[in-house]
Amino acid sequence: MSESSHGGPERRARELRRALRHHSYLYYVRNQPEISDGRFDELFRELKALEASHPELVTPDSPTQRVGAEPLDAFETIEHTAPMLSLDSSADVQPLERFDERMRKALGDDIGYVVEPKLDGASIELVYESGRLSRAVTRGDGVRGEGVTGNIRTIHSVPLRLRAADRAVPPLLALRAEVIMRVGDFEALNARLLESDRPPFANPRNAAAGSLRQLDPRITAARPLDIYVYDILAIDGRPPPTQRATLEALREWGLPVNERCRPAADVGEILAFQAEIEEGRDDLEYEIDGIVIKLDDIAARDEVGETSHHPRWAFAFKFPPRKEVTRLLHIFPSVGRTGVVTPIAFMRPVELGGVTVSRANLHNREEVARKDIREGDRVRVQRAGDVIPQVLERIEEPGRERAEPWVMPGECPSCGTLLEPRGPYTFCPNLFACPAQLAGRIQHLGSRHALDIEGLGEETANLLVRQGVIGRVPELFELEAAKLMELEGFAERSATNLVTAISEARTTELARFIYGLGIPEIGVTVARELASHFLSFEAFREAAAPREEAPAGEEAPAGEALQEVDGIGPRMAEQITAFLARPEVSAVVDELRSWIEPVPPPRAGDTLAGLRIVLTGGLESMSRSEAAKKLEALGAKVTSSVSKQTSYVVAGENPGRKLERAETLGVETLDEAGLFELLSGGPDALSPPEDVPAPGAAGDAPETDAPETDAP
Ligand code: IVH
Repeated sequence: MSESSHGGPERRARELRRALRHHSYLYYVRNQPEISDGRFDELFRELKALEASHPELVTPDSPTQRVGAEPLDAFETIEHTAPMLSLDSSADVQPLERFDERMRKALGDDIGYVVEPKLDGASIELVYESGRLSRAVTRGDGVRGEGVTGNIRTIHSVPLRLRAADRAVPPLLALRAEVIMRVGDFEALNARLLESDRPPFANPRNAAAGSLRQLDPRITAARPLDIYVYDILAIDGRPPPTQRATLEALREWGLPVNERCRPAADVGEILAFQAEIEEGRDDLEYEIDGIVIKLDDIAARDEVGETSHHPRWAFAFKFPPRKEVTRLLHIFPSVGRTGVVTPIAFMRPVELGGVTVSRANLHNREEVARKDIREGDRVRVQRAGDVIPQVLERIEEPGRERAEPWVMPGECPSCGTLLEPRGPYTFCPNLFACPAQLAGRIQHLGSRHALDIEGLGEETANLLVRQGVIGRVPELFELEAAKLMELEGFAERSATNLVTAISEARTTELARFIYGLGIPEIGVTVARELASHFLSFEAFREAAAPREEAPAGEEAPAGEALQEVDGIGPRMAEQITAFLARPEVSAVVDELRSWIEPVPPPRAGDTLAGLRIVLTGGLESMSRSEAAKKLEALGAKVTSSVSKQTSYVVAGENPGRKLERAETLGVETLDEAGLFELLSGGPDALSPPEDVPAPGAAGDAPETDAPETDAP
């Protein structure tokens, strides 16, 4: 067919796009191609040529535009349309039975489930606006993730445009899906990586997640990813009434849905499904780590609700961990960030659930002694989901001569310092100068919940220490791009990016700074508590300082002031105080503090802290962006899309869809007068809405199940 025979290039381009879309769908989603690959390529080339000579005909959702996006400098952080919760799970039957009992108690006996394979991949949100893929966001912390739209577009089974032939497409559709890599593709990819001297991925899930996090979509395009869609996160319009109808709707929109999903009436049928799936697990082309059980009736889901972490209407029944037998070759003491020396078992590589395992954590000296594991023994190892492999037990080999029992060395394998036993554990006391600990501390300071320095991972931290570029943690802030560029693996761009990221991290939230110091016992949650209690680093440090001499006969209570903080007991307080009091720690902390400016968390004056507000429509007295600034100045978060987590939608003139969505979700709406009340007196100043009971009456409490970071 020539372009002229069909009324011009525009029309031909449209025909070709439609044909290619249809045949891609048949090939990638339905697995039922109707034309040969050769014919498909021909059509594709024709469209490419046509678009090359008529660039104005290129549409963003043209099949030629899958790998169109430019490489990014960094991923944008994007808030999910609705939170992406995780699942309550267990590998035991009792919790599953209790789940079923809870559902029956809440809803009666007339319930049904849908059971689905639990795909072991990377969770992602896909958003379609007017039927076109507008963004794809990784799960991240469940509230916000990274925008990887350009990468998701490269996956052929993801429609850039939904099919509308069988079912009307809603104006907005946010979906939850799992990106996977098939086991065969994963192995081929690893072989390729190894050939070019690059590190292989540990398992298909890491390979899928890693491929999604490529800044250059061309790299992702070369990775064999696939996807299954299983849930509607948000929809403009009426959602399908059941999970079965949801899966059907997704199929009709041309989205790939796992073919093994099916209804189940009760625990008996659930167990039968799980047995069947587990039995065929090794024949599946992709990895699964269990099954997911979901209430079929969507309205019933709202009745049972959700916790801040997981929906109460679904449950993941995990497969029991896989076990194998192999030989233990060598036990090596490895020094971690906090100076703990952990015995690591090096084993003859063995396949566990599709992954080759050659190392396992033996935890501590006593564990090695208790299990009586020695070099050369035959051992049983297991890998449970994403958990690090473990050595379960040693297997008797009568008549075989065994090696001597393993002993922890007396000196640190990294710096030679005399090791100190503490209970079952062993420590290297050379906290800041031991190279292994130094690298660990640098990595920790840069980690996601600490200063979140992009590009400062384990490998880089090790490199910086090994090459002698950094001898003390604070020297991180003196790094120069020129120096970095002398190191292997750094080019001008990566070097300047890292230096910029380090310098940007100098202003950070107080909680991140406290966490980043790697103080024993202080995890993310405790760091947040400390930050909101003390409000400045100096106040925290003061509280953690050892007390002056106690009156004769009395013991000085360590860190009394620390114990006022939620979650800190006497033992923890003592450890924190002891750590910070060490002269070498104190010196490093002083220096770090001179580089870093920690920002305190919102104070009591932030009357709107923790509220999430959406503005829609025109306001009379100010522009929307002015209103947003005023709200944000009082601690509110102004977001652009309405979800169940939204506290208020402020609707001005001609508000549009966001108002409808607020009404569907039951989110409280305010007019301009309400906005003023909010700005002047906080949420307590709002006059009660007319059609709901007055404050104090049951049922007026706002949804407080927001993620902990946003809690007021
Ligand atoms: S439903 C709010 N269905 O398992 C409920 N999840 O720990 C949303 N997953 O992060 C989850 N297959 O990425 C659901 N058929 C399936 C799934 C599935 C895999 C993942 C999901 C989630 C994790 C739960």
